[in-house]
Amino acid sequence: MSISVVILAAGQGTRMKSSTPKVLHTISGKPMLFHAIDAAQEISTDITVVLYHQAKRIQEEIEAVYQGIQFHIQDAEQFPGTGGAMKGVKTRYERTLILNGDMPLITKSSLEALTAGDAEINMSVIRLENPSGYGRVIIEEGNVHEIVEQKDCTPEQLLVQNVNAGVYAVNSELLERYIPKLNNNNAQAEYYLTDIIKMAVEEERVVHPVFVAEEEFKGVNSKLDLSHAEEIMQTRIRNHWMREGVIMRLPQTIFIDARATFEGECTLENGVSILGASRLKEAHIKANSVVEDAVIEASSVGPMGRVRPDSLLKHTHIGNFVEVKKSTLEGVKAGHLAYLGDATIDSGTNIGAGTITCNYDGKKKYQTKIGKNVFIGSDTQLVAPVTIEDDVLIAAGSTITKDVAKGELAMSRTPMKTIKNFFYRFFGEK
Ligand code: UD1
Ligand code: CA
Repeated sequence: MSISVVILAAGQGTRMKSSTPKVLHTISGKPMLFHAIDAAQEISTDITVVLYHQAKRIQEEIEAVYQGIQFHIQDAEQFPGTGGAMKGVKTRYERTLILNGDMPLITKSSLEALTAGDAEINMSVIRLENPSGYGRVIIEEGNVHEIVEQKDCTPEQLLVQNVNAGVYAVNSELLERYIPKLNNNNAQAEYYLTDIIKMAVEEERVVHPVFVAEEEFKGVNSKLDLSHAEEIMQTRIRNHWMREGVIMRLPQTIFIDARATFEGECTLENGVSILGASRLKEAHIKANSVVEDAVIEASSVGPMGRVRPDSLLKHTHIGNFVEVKKSTLEGVKAGHLAYLGDATIDSGTNIGAGTITCNYDGKKKYQTKIGKNVFIGSDTQLVAPVTIEDDVLIAAGSTITKDVAKGELAMSRTPMKTIKNFFYRFFGEK
C-alpha cells in the first residue's frame, strides 16, 4: 500500500451550529472523522490528519483510539483554505490521496477507484441537480480543465452540474511543487487547493475526472446532513449483519452502533438499540430494549430491557423493565422490574420482581454478590456491599443489610396484623 493519505479536518464547520467540532459529531456511534480514518486505513499506512479548530481535542480523541496517525496543524491565520491546509504537510509515498474529514460514508472501493489509473491527478466529481455551494468542474475532451469556486463563477459557470467532491489522488511530487506556489487572489481570499488543477493543466498534465457516488462523497455540513448520513450508514450496518445471519424484525426501527458485533443466530426485534462495542452471540433482544457496551451470550433481554456498559449476560433471561449495569449474570432469571448494578449473580438464581441492588450511598458504589440457586423474593432491597451465598431464600419485601450464609432463609418484614371489621367501622355499613 504505497499511497499516503491526508485528511483535511481543520475547518470550523460553522453550518453545524455546534460547540462540538464538526468532525467529532457521530454517525452510528463513531465520530465522522473516524469513519474517514477507517476507510483511509484500508488503503494506506501513512495517514496525516490536518487540524486547526479545536485541534487539541480532536487529536486527543483520535489518539485514544488509533495508533500511528500523524497530525499537521494548519497555519489557518496566515494560510486559510484547503490549499493552506496542505502547506507544510509531509507525505511518505509517491502518490497522495487527499480526503475530507466530513465524508463518513466513503468506502474502500471508491478510494480504490480514485487511486487507480496513471493520470497524474485523479479528482472526484459528482453530478448534482443542484450544484449550489460547490466548486464547478469544467471538463474538456474528457479531462478536467478547471475548477471554479461558486463565489468565483460567471453566470454560465454557475449552471455547470459537475461539481468537485473535494477528494484527489495526486502525484506527491506535483504537490510539493504546487502547494508553495498557491496564492489567495480570489473572492474568499483563501488558499484554494483546487488551484493545483490549474497549475497541472498549465503544465499540460492529465487531470482525470472520476465520477463518484453522491451518497458517499457529499460532505456532512449540517445536522440535517448528519441525519441523512446516519440513515444511510444504518442501512449499511443492518444489511451487513442480516447477511451475516442476524434476524431483524422491522429493521428500519433498529439502531446498531458501527462497533457492535454479532455471532451465531441473533434476533433483534423492533425498536432495539445496540450501542457501543456490544458483543452479542446467540442473543434474542426483544422489542424496545437498549443494550450498551455489553456482552450477551445465549440470553434474552426484554421487551423493554436495558443492559448498560460493562455487563455480561450468559444463559440468562432478563424481562421487561429490568436494568443491568456493570454486572455479570450467568444462568440467571430476572423476569420483571429490577435494578441490578455492580453485581455478580450465579447460576440457577431467580430474581423476583421489584428487586433492587442499592449499590450507591450517595458517595460510592458497592458490590452485591449472589451465589447459585438463590431465590430472591419480590420487592427485595439488597443494600450493598452484601454477599448472598448459595442456596439462600430471601422472603419477599425484605431489606437485606447483612450477608446471608449458605442454605439460610433471610426475612426482614414488619409483622402483619389484621383488625376485624375495621372497614365497616371506618366507612360505615353499606
Ligand atoms: C471545497 C472545494 C470545492 C468543493 C468542496 C467539496 C476548495 C477551494 N474548494 O470547498 O471545490 O466543491 O470542497 O466539499 O478546495 N479545510 C481545512 N482547512 C481550511 C478549510 C477547509 O482543513 O482552511 C477542510 C475542511 O475541514 C473540510 C475540507 O477542507 O474537511 C473542505 O472544506 P470546506 O470548507 O467544506 O470546502 P470548501 O472550501 O467550501
Ligand atoms: Ca469553505
